[in-house]
Amino acid sequence: MSVLNGKKILLGVSGGIAAYKTASLVRLFIKAGAHVQVIMTPASKDFVTPLTLATLSKNPVYSTFYDTNDTTAEDGLQSKEEGVWNNHVELALWADFMLIAPATANTLSKMASGTCDNLLLATYLSAKCPVYFAPAMDLDMYKHPSTLANFKTLADFGNTIIPAESGELASGLSGEGRMAEPENIVSFLEADIASKLPLKGKKILITAGPTYEAIDPVRFIGNHSSGKMGYDIALCAAQLGASVILVSGPSHCKVHHSAIQLISVVSAQEMLDECQRYFPQVDVAIAAAAVADYRPKTVASQKIKKSAAEFAIELEKTTDILAAMGAVKNNQFLIGFALETENEIENAKLKIQKKNLDLIVLNSLQDEGAGFRKETNKVTFIDKDFSIEPMELKSKEAVANDILTKVIAHFHA
Ligand code: CTP
Repeated sequence: MSVLNGKKILLGVSGGIAAYKTASLVRLFIKAGAHVQVIMTPASKDFVTPLTLATLSKNPVYSTFYDTNDTTAEDGLQSKEEGVWNNHVELALWADFMLIAPATANTLSKMASGTCDNLLLATYLSAKCPVYFAPAMDLDMYKHPSTLANFKTLADFGNTIIPAESGELASGLSGEGRMAEPENIVSFLEADIASKLPLKGKKILITAGPTYEAIDPVRFIGNHSSGKMGYDIALCAAQLGASVILVSGPSHCKVHHSAIQLISVVSAQEMLDECQRYFPQVDVAIAAAAVADYRPKTVASQKIKKSAAEFAIELEKTTDILAAMGAVKNNQFLIGFALETENEIENAKLKIQKKNLDLIVLNSLQDEGAGFRKETNKVTFIDKDFSIEPMELKSKEAVANDILTKVIAHFHA
């Protein structure tokens, strides 16, 4: 999955021949799962039509402060109601990042000097998000001292240049100045965003799902855990740049990210073995699995026949995997879950101490919407200093995000 998935991209198109390439660029962004909002300078409309970009971006295209004949995605050339103000501040605040492509010498110069004579420039000046620009101009313009000075000024403002490429130019000359190809712009953005993700370089071990404890070759003791919470944490961690080792008991959940290494296990013992193998290498461990606390003391080698009227299975304790990690912890940030039905806070605090945790995510079965086989969860965070933070009822994805926000805060404290 691309790091652009779900990103809100504000694409500013200025008036150069390379503007025709923005049609492909918008398509690539949409294909990557991004939301795209296009703003055009008046001059750029001579090179690519607002209708093309509105259709491809599935959003209205703006080019003036007042809506007169800007297009909407749904009704093509039909104008929006006249006299509507296109709020550049709102557009700028909406975006996760802004890209100006092509950025002509004229637009770059205005960006560097703070000139504000069109909607694109007003939006640029209002933008607090990261700004990238992909210059496009003739080779001599690209090397002109004033252009180079503008590049430097914009870099000093914190904007990022996506360098032009070499090749045949519209003038017939050949050299540097061609706007980077749309595929290369996308790769540049993906690499840049990935390198700045908050969990970049961090390794996270996550346990998920139930464990099955064999009774005989066909029967087991298990539980109703779907694994969803652990898989959601794994996906969120990977999207935030971490490399993830996901040790999972039997689950129907799927892994959707190349940064997640899935290790499938069945029993508590297998889960323990894998966690002990990987724990020394990781920066963070999050135990979201619903591990069986007991297993049959002996496993029958043949299927047990239903001959006796009564039948008992002797159980023995499994090793507490989370506590085992806590016992050998060095610098790892260790997070456990606790499912309690009474004296929740007090019991959770005891578990923090007993298992040597940094943070516990407390689920109370008394909370409606929390627990097994649900799409939502209601948790309370308790850290090792016993500070308590109750959270709202949320989707499990949102809870996963909250947990990883705690991890990020730990590393950036
Ligand atoms: N856990 C574990 N290994 C076990 C049992 C539990 O790693 N054998 C972890 C779970 O992944 C979870 C936390 O411990 O992070 C769950 O604790 P909880 O459900 O509260 O159970 P216990 O700690 O076993 O305590 P009790 O059942 O006595 O409340």
